[in-house]
Amino acid sequence: MKTIDDLDVAGRRVLVRSDLNVPLDGTRITDDGRIRASVPTIATLAERGARVVVCAHLGRPKGQVRPGLSLRPVATRLGELLGREVRFASDVVGASAADTVAALVDGDVAVLENLRFEAAETSKDDAERGAFAEKLAGPAELYVGDGFGAVHRRHASVYDVPRRLPHAAGGLVLAEVEVLRRLTTSPKRPYVVVLGGAKLSDKLGVIAGVLDLADRLVIGGGMGYTFLKAQGHEVGRSLLEADQVEAVRGYLDTAEAKGVEVVLPVDVVTVAEFKADAEAVVVASDAIPADREGVDIGPRTRELFEGKLADAATVFWNGPMGVFEMAPFAAGTKAVAQAISEVDGLTVVGGGDSAAAVRQLGFADEAFGHISTGGGASLEYLEGKTLPGLEALED
Ligand code: 3PG
Repeated sequence: MKTIDDLDVAGRRVLVRSDLNVPLDGTRITDDGRIRASVPTIATLAERGARVVVCAHLGRPKGQVRPGLSLRPVATRLGELLGREVRFASDVVGASAADTVAALVDGDVAVLENLRFEAAETSKDDAERGAFAEKLAGPAELYVGDGFGAVHRRHASVYDVPRRLPHAAGGLVLAEVEVLRRLTTSPKRPYVVVLGGAKLSDKLGVIAGVLDLADRLVIGGGMGYTFLKAQGHEVGRSLLEADQVEAVRGYLDTAEAKGVEVVLPVDVVTVAEFKADAEAVVVASDAIPADREGVDIGPRTRELFEGKLADAATVFWNGPMGVFEMAPFAAGTKAVAQAISEVDGLTVVGGGDSAAAVRQLGFADEAFGHISTGGGASLEYLEGKTLPGLEALED
């Protein structure tokens, strides 16, 4: 992969694909981690005299113009972090984008409106995506792929545009790939993978992938209940993906055959009603009452998981251990984050949501070796899949 050092950017219009998909509360950005992570590449290009045109998506507007998903507040925040004016185009490939790009002088930075206001950006039809890619690439002379969080998407701005312009990988993509490469090629052992979060079906691929790599798989969060069910326990009203129980049994057998230790909760915090002030009762994980649901790992599980992380030399973590958004059910996620922050080795927090969780719980980014900006992208990398956005950046 070429880097931006290989491109002669001075005086040229450089289209940068960043991942600026940040969580918003109205127009307030609640975690600007992805914007911060995108700043170095954009700043370097501007300092070298490029005319930088940033494109990115926000949410999933599915081809509709949704004012609540405008990138305007993101462009404002980017300007604050860059310490320079950032121009904003109120469309993606229309008159505003054309005027904004034409007005740029060397060292200027502009942001285009949300790519996903255009249905063709995410189209599965190659011709439709290609036609849009032509328009997006049109005014640019060079392309830099730096939106690591979106490299698993075969979208026009990620996959089709770099095939039409001289291109390079941005610093964020290179850094992310370097860390994930270390996780997949001879990681230092013991290598512990911690998975949580609600949606098990999103993680099945990565579980299959890590069974070939990890020494220990620690599982908590909503997805853990399907594992408990697969072991023959009742889970009450807890989150359950009944159609995945058989698949999970298969993974448990494979883990045993490969000598991968699978560590599941031994106790859970349960509630009868899903609300923050509900009465919380800790029960053994093989005795969850029929009328209660698990919302966090229990205190014995926290200790168990801490112990399983204490000797780790490499850790990858994706997904919270419970409903951390509600303070009474955040203890499990916090304990795991704390234990990982104390590991003497390479620690990687994967995922936009997991990254937001550790920051919300008060951890500094420096507490971890690497906080990935890519949720789905880092999981698909660990699954061993070919990522379209990386493939397109290869020469
Ligand atoms: C993410 O939030 O993981 C990336 O920005 C990709 O977004 P998407 O899942 O909507 O494609």
